[in-house]
Amino acid sequence: MDFKSLALKYKTPLYVYDFGHIKEQFESVQKAFHARKSLICYAVKANSNLSILRYLGKLGAGCDCVSIGEIKRALIAGISKYKIVFSGVGKDDSEIAYALRQDILMLNVESEEELKRIEDIARYMGIKARISVRINPDIDAKTHPYISTGLKKNKFGVDIDTAKKLYIYSKKSEWLDPVGIHCHIGSQILDLKPYDEATKITAELLKSLKALDINIKFFDVGGGIGIRYKDEITIKPYEFAQTVLANLEGADVTVICEFGRFLVGNSGYLLTKVLYEKKNGKKRFVIVDAAMNDLIRPGFYDAYHAIEKIDKKDEKFSKADVVGPVCESSDFLGKDVLLPQLNYGDLLIVKSVGAYGFSMSSNYNTRPRCAEVAFTENRYRLIRKRETFENLIECETECLVRGNL
Ligand SMILES: Cc1ncc(COP(=O)(O)O)c(C=O)c1O
Repeated sequence: MDFKSLALKYKTPLYVYDFGHIKEQFESVQKAFHARKSLICYAVKANSNLSILRYLGKLGAGCDCVSIGEIKRALIAGISKYKIVFSGVGKDDSEIAYALRQDILMLNVESEEELKRIEDIARYMGIKARISVRINPDIDAKTHPYISTGLKKNKFGVDIDTAKKLYIYSKKSEWLDPVGIHCHIGSQILDLKPYDEATKITAELLKSLKALDINIKFFDVGGGIGIRYKDEITIKPYEFAQTVLANLEGADVTVICEFGRFLVGNSGYLLTKVLYEKKNGKKRFVIVDAAMNDLIRPGFYDAYHAIEKIDKKDEKFSKADVVGPVCESSDFLGKDVLLPQLNYGDLLIVKSVGAYGFSMSSNYNTRPRCAEVAFTENRYRLIRKRETFENLIECETECLVRGNL
C-alpha cells in the first residue's frame, strides 16, 4: 500500500482497510460451510463502517447487530432484513419494537424478563416475534477476561435449564416463535476445544427441544475466532466448521456464525505521524498523532499490535514506547517497540486494527475521529470523512447556556 501518498492526501491519523483481505476471509468461511445451509452474520460492532457492511453484504453476508443503530446501519447498507439477528443483554422497548417492525430474522433473547418484554411488545403490535435463546454454557473460552462471554460469571445468556423453560414457554405463546438457538462464548479464541464443548451442550438442547416438538431452524454458533496479531496459532475456518458440524449430527438447521474480528481484523492499518521523540532517563518515547481515542485496545486490554516505520531501511533499532497526545498514561499504542531513530513527519503503521479499532474510538480530549479509506480493486476510496471540530460540538451549541448562570 502506498501509505506515503495516503498520508499526504488524507492526513493522519488514518485508518486504511484492504477489502481484498476481507473478501478472502469471508470466502474462507463460506467455503468451510459450503456443504450445509449456512449464513454468515458479520458482527457489526467489529467495524460498522457502511462501506464495509455493503461490501460484505454483496458477498452474501448478513449482520449480527447489538443496537438499533447497528440494525439501521445494516439496513442502510442494503443487508436483507431476513439476514439480520439482534443480540445484546439490554435491548430497550423501542429497540425491540423497531426490530419487530423491521421483521428481522430473529432476536437473540438473553433473559427471562427480556422474553416476556418481547412477548408484551409483540402482542401490542399484533406481531409474532421470531426469537432465539442465547445459551450460557459455562465454558471457559480461554481468552482475555473482558472478551470472555460464556461463563456463568459473565452477564450473557441463560443456563441450559432456564433456556429449556423459555423455549417451552415460547412454544405455547401466541406471540413468540422460537426459531433459533444461540451461543457466543467470547472473542479472540485460539482453541477449538471450548467451541466443541459449547456446541455439544447447545446441540444436546437442540435435540431435547425436538423431542418436545420445538423445531429450531437456526443454530447460531456466535463468533470469536481469533486472528494473528503477533505469533498466535489460529483456528482455521474449516476446522471450526468441522467441529460444529460434527456435533450437529445432520440436524436439519441453518448454521449461523457471527464473525467480526476474523473477517476484518487483519485488513486494517492505522497510519500515524511521528511528532516527537523524548527520553525520560533511559526510557525512550515516540510521540505520534494517533492516540488511545483512535485505538483503545492497547490501553484497554493490553492488546498487542505490531508497529512499523514505513520505508524501513537498515537502521539501528532500539526499544521505545509509542504513545499518543492524550493525557493518560494508558495512552499508548505499543510498548517496547523496536524502532529506528525517528524524526518529525516519519510515518508509522499500526497493524491488524480492522476490528474494534475505529468502532471503539471516541472523541476523548475533544479529538475528532479519524478518516477511513478502503483499498479496493486497486484504488483507494475515502469511506469516512475525518470529523471536524464543528461535528464534535454540534449537539452542544444549540443547547449552550447563555447569560450569567
Ligand atoms: C453476540 C456476539 N456475536 C459475535 C461477536 C463477534 O465476535 P468476534 O469479533 O470475536 O468474532 C460478538 C463480540 O463480542 C458478540 O458479542
